[in-house]
Amino acid sequence: MKLTVVGGGSTYTPELVDGFARLRDTLPVEELVLVDPAADRLELVGGLARRIFARQGHPGRVVTTSDLDAGVEGADAVLLQLRVGGQAARERDETWPLECGCVGQETTGAGGLAKALRTVPVVLDIADRVRRTNPDAWIIDFTNPVGIVTRALLTAGHKAVGLCNVAIGLQRKFAGLLDVAPAEIHLDHVGLNHLTWETGARLGGPEGENVLPALLAEHGDTVAADLRLPRALLDRLGVVPSYYLRYYYAHDEVVRELAAKPSRAAEVAEMERRLLTMYADPALDEKPELLAKRGGAYYSEAAVDLAASLLGGGGSTYQVVNTLNRGTLPFLPDDAVIEVQAAVGHKGATPLSVPAVDPLYAGLMASVTAYEDLALEAALHGGRERVFRALLAHPLVGQYAYAEGLTDRLIAHNREHLAWA
Ligand code: G6P
Ligand code: MN
Repeated sequence: MKLTVVGGGSTYTPELVDGFARLRDTLPVEELVLVDPAADRLELVGGLARRIFARQGHPGRVVTTSDLDAGVEGADAVLLQLRVGGQAARERDETWPLECGCVGQETTGAGGLAKALRTVPVVLDIADRVRRTNPDAWIIDFTNPVGIVTRALLTAGHKAVGLCNVAIGLQRKFAGLLDVAPAEIHLDHVGLNHLTWETGARLGGPEGENVLPALLAEHGDTVAADLRLPRALLDRLGVVPSYYLRYYYAHDEVVRELAAKPSRAAEVAEMERRLLTMYADPALDEKPELLAKRGGAYYSEAAVDLAASLLGGGGSTYQVVNTLNRGTLPFLPDDAVIEVQAAVGHKGATPLSVPAVDPLYAGLMASVTAYEDLALEAALHGGRERVFRALLAHPLVGQYAYAEGLTDRLIAHNREHLAWA
């Protein structure tokens, strides 16, 4: 089996490689290709990847290349984990929206739109090149904003599934609190990428007993503290929102916090400098502890599970993925991309049916879906007016004066990445 990681020079890659090494019975990777335009990073990351495989006795070969076409040739699956413009662009996304009193975040709100506009054309070009050399390969998209990028891929007819680690993180968290194995917890997970709610947590599988009420009764304080939301709110809702919902439920509070401290991008950039220094040490042959301070915990396990199922192997029967709605959530268009539990196999992901969604959540999903639709239009066709329309539709923006100010800033800060600007 050959697997290619586009954006393989990311400092995150050792997390992925560690997962491939540990879980090699589930996903027997013979050749792992790391593709990245940044040759210097690629060498450091590739060197560590080889040492991780060697230490764990993994027989697979690690190849590094800056040649995308060569890298994806013959791959069974291609993982996309790229960041157009790097942490510098992210830093801007997290900063200028604050000037308009709006949240500055890499995937939520105006910053997320900027990221979508930079990213969609690049990802579509990569996917077209994968398709030319390798029409049967599965594309697994980790590239944010995952909902919009996956929708772009699927609308263009690619064989793609979008993936995020929020669900697997909560599954691990709940399993730890209940003292059961993670595989024992089946989340009733519903929403859009980075806009999800756990409406249940079942023991053993989709038909199992819902232990979420008991879990909240006993461990509500811990869950609330992790989300940085009041315990009383969780008790009233009776569901567990993802931590991205804090950008909605406590928007103004978050804006004040963000304005008073350095950006996450700056923090991550500093961590990346330290990580790259560590990766250069030939004695290092495992993923360093510091990597755990990034947001991507367990993403390698989600990736292995998904790739194993898509490639016909031994992944979990049900997995939380991003895929086409096709009637699963009847209040959203069929071509919306939703994040739900799905049965995953070599033909792809088929969402499990979802019980009626409380309007309290359905309304927000519907308005963010409309925003994502307009965001994709803007990413595909460009133009100031399309950017404005997406921002005006976003529930965290809404007012025309904010949308105008954000549109001007988005374009000014991203000109070099926008062919039409
Ligand atoms: C979580 C999200 C990812 C996001 C990451 C950011 O893992 O699911 O989509 O990329 O957090 O983490 P960072 O360490 O870069 O802030
Ligand atoms: Mn994510």
